[in-house]
Amino acid sequence: MAFSYSSFVSGGLGKQLASSLGLPQPSRLRRHDPKKSLIPGAVLVAGHDEAPLVPQVRTWLEAARVAVATVPSTSVAGVVVDLTGIESPEDLETLRATVAPALKTLQGSGRIIVLGRPPESATSVEQAAARRAVEGIVRSIGKEMRAGGTANTVLVEEGADTGLEATLRFLLSGRSAYVDAQVIRVAAPVADPVVPADWATPLADKVAVVTGAARGIGAAIAEVLARDGATVVCVDIPAAGGPLADVANRLGGSALQLDVTAEDAGERIVEHAVSRHGGIDIVVHNAGITRDKLLANMDAERWHSVVDVNLLSILRMNTALVPALNQGGHIVNVASIAGIAGNRGQTNYAASKAGVIGMTTALAQDAEVLAKGITVNAVAPGFIVTEMTAKVPFATREVGALMNSLSQGGLPIDVAETIGWFCWDANRAVTGNTVRVCGQMLLGA
Ligand SMILES: NC(=O)c1ccc[n+]([C@@H]2O[C@H](COP(=O)([O-])OP(=O)(O)OC[C@H]3O[C@@H](n4cnc5c(N)ncnc54)[C@H](O)[C@@H]3O)[C@@H](O)[C@H]2O)c1
Repeated sequence: MAFSYSSFVSGGLGKQLASSLGLPQPSRLRRHDPKKSLIPGAVLVAGHDEAPLVPQVRTWLEAARVAVATVPSTSVAGVVVDLTGIESPEDLETLRATVAPALKTLQGSGRIIVLGRPPESATSVEQAAARRAVEGIVRSIGKEMRAGGTANTVLVEEGADTGLEATLRFLLSGRSAYVDAQVIRVAAPVADPVVPADWATPLADKVAVVTGAARGIGAAIAEVLARDGATVVCVDIPAAGGPLADVANRLGGSALQLDVTAEDAGERIVEHAVSRHGGIDIVVHNAGITRDKLLANMDAERWHSVVDVNLLSILRMNTALVPALNQGGHIVNVASIAGIAGNRGQTNYAASKAGVIGMTTALAQDAEVLAKGITVNAVAPGFIVTEMTAKVPFATREVGALMNSLSQGGLPIDVAETIGWFCWDANRAVTGNTVRVCGQMLLGA
């Protein structure tokens, strides 16, 4: 078995060595378990001034059978602070006074969630400064959290308060285990949010298409969407036909052997999904490749193949998929932090993934997409343990896995859970977002 730093320091001599040398010691992250409660302990809910979101947050938590605390207690598993009412940087004291004592007693894999309003819609320069300051504080808290805890900001647009429930549930739960120091924007929903009959199966009766589903992150996405109730069309190249069929059969979905770069790939997906399953509600563009070389040595073939698979194919497929998607559907694109921070040897890959982020923002505002109430979002994974990262040289791989606030690589399921949340009909208030699933990776932080 290959050496891994995380396994080495998880017990015995490695653990002792790491603790005496002060080396990073990754904690086991709390991940979603459908049989367990949303969060294993009480959540402290507080806010500044009138804190307009606090009553609503309490009601949602009570409905989810989560105990609500009003003063920091020893058993607090999460903290939600409503700062939507701040007017000046002086008001940030509320955040310090609430979170500082809670951090001392927060349970493992604890959650800090700070609710604010977008700085762009501030009514004074002072208020804009205060609103923007929230991001800086929360990103710093992320770096100070211990034992697998995370800290995230949610900016709720004025008038979009009721759209927050899905995001709150996601961030408190183990589904967001590797989502850290993010700023999620909740806006007026593009279509009426639908609270699921059962939050354990928020994708019941949905038909989802996942490209690159034969292995790695794609197989995990297919699994999570199926676990949450969807029927999944698993798409991958003919050469991956065997594992593709295994995934589709295991999940009770169907397999479609298809190269996403084919000119008619979009039409073939539509034809398959409509004839076999009656339509499409969700599309996840996950298929992707790397062909790394320094730009000085980059030939046209490496350049073109990466841009074609990772970006051009999605643009082509969407011309057939958007008109075919059911009303209120969801599109999710898989980007990468390389598309945000850039990466040596990956000009082609970073170009394609930055393009995916640009496409996500623009498509979310497209007239046809808005008219159909479709959400369009992207995930930008950091270091995720898959066959793609197994190709990275040993030392770079081990360092890459540690270079984040959680001191470990993420798992394919972490990316999949974030994609699943984007696809809930309860979550139609989140669109045009790119959320990093990177454990607050230092790269491009
Ligand atoms: N692993 C990571 O750390 C990481 C980080 C950031 C982003 N990503 C992105 O996540 C996605 C999945 O990555 P992964 O690590 O699971 O990779 P992977 O190589 O393990 O799996 C990719 C899958 O896509 C399929 N595929 C490739 N080209 C295709 C084509 N032309 N048509 C249809 N299917 C095709 C492959 O056959 C494979 O099954 C990719 O878009 C990748 O860029 C991964």
